[in-house]
Amino acid sequence: MKLEVVVLAAGKGTRMRSALPKVLHLVAGKPMLSHVLESAQKLSPDHIHVVCGHGADQVREYFSHDLTINWIFQAEQMGTGHAVCQALPDISTQSTVLVLYGDIPLILPGTLQRLTDEARDGSLALLSASFDNPHGYGRVVRDPDNAICAIVEEADASSDQRKISEINTGFIAAPAEKLKDWLDAVDNNNSQGEYYLTDIVGAAACSGTPVKGVICEDILEVMGVNSRSDLAKAERNFQRREAEKLMDAGLTLDDPSRFDLRGQLEFGEDCRMDINVVVSGTVKMGKNVFVGPNSQISDSEIGDNVEIRANSIIEGAYIADHCSVGPFARLRPGTELATGARIGNFVETKNAVIGEDSKANHLAYVGDASVGQRVNIGAGVITCNYDGANKHQTKIENDAFIGSNTALVAPLTVGEGATVGAGSAVSRDVPAGQLAVTRAQQTVKDGWERPQKNKTSKGESSQ
Ligand code: UD1
Ligand code: MG
Repeated sequence: MKLEVVVLAAGKGTRMRSALPKVLHLVAGKPMLSHVLESAQKLSPDHIHVVCGHGADQVREYFSHDLTINWIFQAEQMGTGHAVCQALPDISTQSTVLVLYGDIPLILPGTLQRLTDEARDGSLALLSASFDNPHGYGRVVRDPDNAICAIVEEADASSDQRKISEINTGFIAAPAEKLKDWLDAVDNNNSQGEYYLTDIVGAAACSGTPVKGVICEDILEVMGVNSRSDLAKAERNFQRREAEKLMDAGLTLDDPSRFDLRGQLEFGEDCRMDINVVVSGTVKMGKNVFVGPNSQISDSEIGDNVEIRANSIIEGAYIADHCSVGPFARLRPGTELATGARIGNFVETKNAVIGEDSKANHLAYVGDASVGQRVNIGAGVITCNYDGANKHQTKIENDAFIGSNTALVAPLTVGEGATVGAGSAVSRDVPAGQLAVTRAQQTVKDGWERPQKNKTSKGESSQ
């Protein structure tokens, strides 16, 4: 039987107080809707339909790269039942339909699989959970035999029903054909004047279709996001879950509550992250990598035995084995450090290949450059790569020594083993093995004396 997923995402999210559609708000650097779609995709459904309404253009634009989504536009939000109805014409009758919400981002594929499996025999399956504070949720009503007979919304519930702690998460799985029949019969005679998807539960129970409750033990998976406060909770819950997974896989996190993953992290044995490290995009690390506090790493690959010291920012870089970076270093996209290279404090690199055992230990800018092996780049060296219109390359060959406070005006080659004297502005190629110095010659004035203060008699003012 086919599997069709319907994700409801048309609501406004009034309580977010935001111009951004609710499902585009980020959890771990990704829109909530992305998380839901990723979990759904793990079930290999035949189709995924997303019902959008408020901010539909923005939502579709964000996901425009994903051509597998079938977008359904719900012009007016008349309730969850009405929202699912909009998708029905695109759904095969010979399928199981799984309904998800775009604002419940932490749901796991395993839970969705359990729910879907329960509906394969033609039953209606709904995901429920037990909440200490069920306020605001639809309550699952069971008969004396413990069979589910209805879901009643908070607004329509009696005071006894409000005491029920088993809540409807909103996620259901049902056979498409029956779902169509049940939805046809749903009306909006309730306190909110909406077409409730939840009314199909009563309809199914009346028609003799088994209604199966699948209980979600981890309530964090089914927490909805309606406010900024909920969003912050979802973020922390997500991060705690990821941190646990990483630690189980062998990563040392000095404080798991002060580590944020906004992408994918692969790592070898004995890697350690100090506090406040943020990893985003795709990051791969070899063995025995240490990342110091307050560092950010995104879309980078790091080899074995590397030390990233405090407050470093690494983006789109490749760092080979035995390198040392930071503290306070900034490696920008296109940086490649070969084995044993060292980039120290307040050094910025961009589109720069730094050869084996070369170092720029303090206060330098190395951009659009290729640096050979065993090169020393002194403090305050700058590759002047931009002439105001175009970028140019600097090439520094093996064993060159660039003295402190040198401006290398590109395009430029400093030959193998060449030396540039401190304080030079070099704009012509330096031949291999030669010394280039462009600073003004020092003069020493014989007999020069430092000016002295005029001597004035006591009480006289000095001008
Ligand atoms: C719904 C359930 C409730 C459940 C709760 C869990 C109904 C009637 N009630 O209530 O039993 O406990 O979720 O969070 O289903 N949406 C649309 N179009 C609409 C209306 C809603 O796409 O016309 C979307 C929203 O964007 C949201 C989801 O459906 O993603 C749920 O809607 P919401 O208004 O939050 O429903 P609740 O009142 O929370
Ligand atoms: Mg809600």
